[in-house]
Order: sequence, then C-alpha cells, then structure tokens
Amino acid sequence: MYKAIIFDVYGTLFDMDSLKNEMIEFDEDTATKITKLWQKTQLRHMFMRQVMQRYIPFDELTKDSLRHTLNVYDIQYNREDINRLFEAFFNLNYYKEIPKSLANLRDKNIDVGILSNGNDNMLMPLIDNSELGGYIDTLISVNEIKQYKPSAASYALVLEYYHMNREDILFVSSNSWDITGASNFGFDTAWVNRTNKKFDVNGPTPTITVSNVSEMVKWLELNHK
Ligand code: LAC
Repeated sequence: MYKAIIFDVYGTLFDMDSLKNEMIEFDEDTATKITKLWQKTQLRHMFMRQVMQRYIPFDELTKDSLRHTLNVYDIQYNREDINRLFEAFFNLNYYKEIPKSLANLRDKNIDVGILSNGNDNMLMPLIDNSELGGYIDTLISVNEIKQYKPSAASYALVLEYYHMNREDILFVSSNSWDITGASNFGFDTAWVNRTNKKFDVNGPTPTITVSNVSEMVKWLELNHK
C-alpha cells in the first residue's frame, strides 16, 4: 500500500470551469473563451519560464496570462478588473467526490498531500475557502525551489517532505503533462481523465487511468491491501 497520495491542485481537486464564477460582465461564450485561453497561456508561460529559468511566482504568472488573454480579445481592463478576475482562483469549486475520497484515504492511514505549481498566496486562500484543509496533511508548493513542475526537482520536493521512497508515493493529476513528469521522476501515477480525453504521450504513461478520484480510491482498495 502507498504511504502517501500526492495530488495536483488545479483541474484535479478543483474544477477550472469555475474560473467563470467571477466573470459576471461577460456572456457565456466570452467567459468560456477567456477561461480557455487564460489557462492555455498560463501553461505556456509556465513551461517557457521553466525552460528559460526565469521563474516568477504563480500568482504573478497567472495575472500576466490573464492580461494577455484580455488583450487578445480586445477587452479593456484596469487593475481592479485583473484582481477581481484573478480572485476566482481563491474560490474554485472542488469536484464533488473530493471530500469523501480524501476522508477515505485518511481513514486508511494514508497521508494526503498536495504538490502544486501554485504559490502559498494562491493555495492558502483556496484551501481555506473550500474547507478541504481538514483532509490535507501536507501542502507543498514548488515556490520553495522556484522551479515549475514537470521539472524533476519539483517532484523531488515530495521526498524531502516525506521521508519515504519513491515507491511509497502515488501521484494523482488530471494534467497529462504532470503525470508524464511525475512518472518520469519515478512515482506511480494515477491520471484522472474526467472527460474521456486521449493521454498526450510524451514520455512515460500513467500507472492507472481513472475517471474521477473516488475510482482511484476504489482501485487502491482492490489492488493494494
Ligand atoms: C498545479 C497546477 C498547475 O500544479 O495544476 O496545481
């Protein structure tokens, strides 16, 4: 049995569609377009900054990505608009199976942790507002080493926190690039594929694929006594 299950945050525990919650001034189509391009830009900036070795904290990167997105769609904004839209990241909706699944893991004496590219300024309010804090033992941000996932050093942070071997950890993410990175580092991985996507093969593939987190917990119960 694994000793710790480590989760990615955005898209894995929390539904990124809820970024739209703060987009009250836009119609549904515009809000959808902004949400998509914002996340795409965020990802591109993350990878580029990691390659260029020009790390900035995730909150700054996320605001830069938002400004680019609004520029692309010729939407005027001021600093308050950026702050308000950004604050949607503090109030994302978690997927409905999450509290029960995490509680279930803790009942089995498995440690529940988070490894995120988000910095504490983003993660703390989100976890506090969602009331998931009670289920999470360890919150690890890559901000500590100023390297984004999928760098090997970012996954290695988990081993620094937990004095465990790689085999003791299962890493869970809905992002295929994150699964590739974690598998590449040597963790077993569970890919949460909620919308029946194709895995983007670009290196190692997941140990298991599930359609939500409670399915992953069931798999553990059946296969890892
Ligand atoms: C995370 C995002 C990038 O690391 O999914 O939580």
